[in-house]
Amino acid sequence: MGAGEIFWDIVPYVTLAIVVVGTWWRYRYDKFGWTTRSSQLYENRLLRIASPMFHFGILVVIVGHVIGLIIPQSWTDALGLSQHAYHLQAITLGTIAGVSTLVGIALLIYRRRTNGPVFTATTTNDKIMYVVLVAAIVAGLATTLIGSGVVGEEHNYRQTVSPWFRSIWILQPRGDLMMQAPLSFQVHALIAMALFALWPFTRLVHAFSAPIGYLFRPYVVYRSREAATADQLVGSQPRRRGW
Ligand code: HEM
Repeated sequence: MGAGEIFWDIVPYVTLAIVVVGTWWRYRYDKFGWTTRSSQLYENRLLRIASPMFHFGILVVIVGHVIGLIIPQSWTDALGLSQHAYHLQAITLGTIAGVSTLVGIALLIYRRRTNGPVFTATTTNDKIMYVVLVAAIVAGLATTLIGSGVVGEEHNYRQTVSPWFRSIWILQPRGDLMMQAPLSFQVHALIAMALFALWPFTRLVHAFSAPIGYLFRPYVVYRSREAATADQLVGSQPRRRGW
């Protein structure tokens, strides 16, 4: 058994342990800091475009990963979906979602860096996390390009990366499979694990408790103080003199 194989057998469990213990620790000691650290009050114009762009993009990327990593190739084969057809839809959807995620996060980071109060409200851990997050997305897009044969040789990751991913969860790690994947896939998975390890110590914890309604609600609900008719005059409207 080579060092590389042992690495891919063990590191996923180290990552999982950090995520579980780290999340428990964060909740125990920083319950009231369990937040996105919203900066909407400081800046809203860019946020309104960039945040949905990033979040919808990453949701599609996640769905893509669930399909690509969890569903065995034998199942899609049995459904009559050819490898070519699978690949084509994965590349098309994956690239659109991946690029949207990347542009979204680029705008969010630009906003965070150029808006004084937003930058001041950014913790060191979050700054490190942003670098790793962008690296994970860029490396992911690179694997799509490389794996699809656009650059270099085509690689069917559903026979290497995907069974490796599943082997972790059934406690029969197959690091040897990961060693058969091209370097770009190994780099992508490694950066992803670094991101998971950082997760509990950053604002990413909000993903564990994000209400789905968040995605569809207006950012801040503004109500006009102008009432159309006299009988709608309520609350903070100036009081009219009585008789
Ligand atoms: C251990 C965890 C992960 C594994 C094994 C993994 C594996 C893969 C594989 C095999 C692809 C190629 C998909 C294709 O070409 O059809 C890919 C693409 C991609 N990955 Fe990951 N990934 C992981 C985690 C992540 C994370 C945490 C992120 C982002 C934060 C991410 C972002 C992307 C992106 C943006 C792409 C480009 C294609 C797309 O948009 O789906 N991945 N990943």
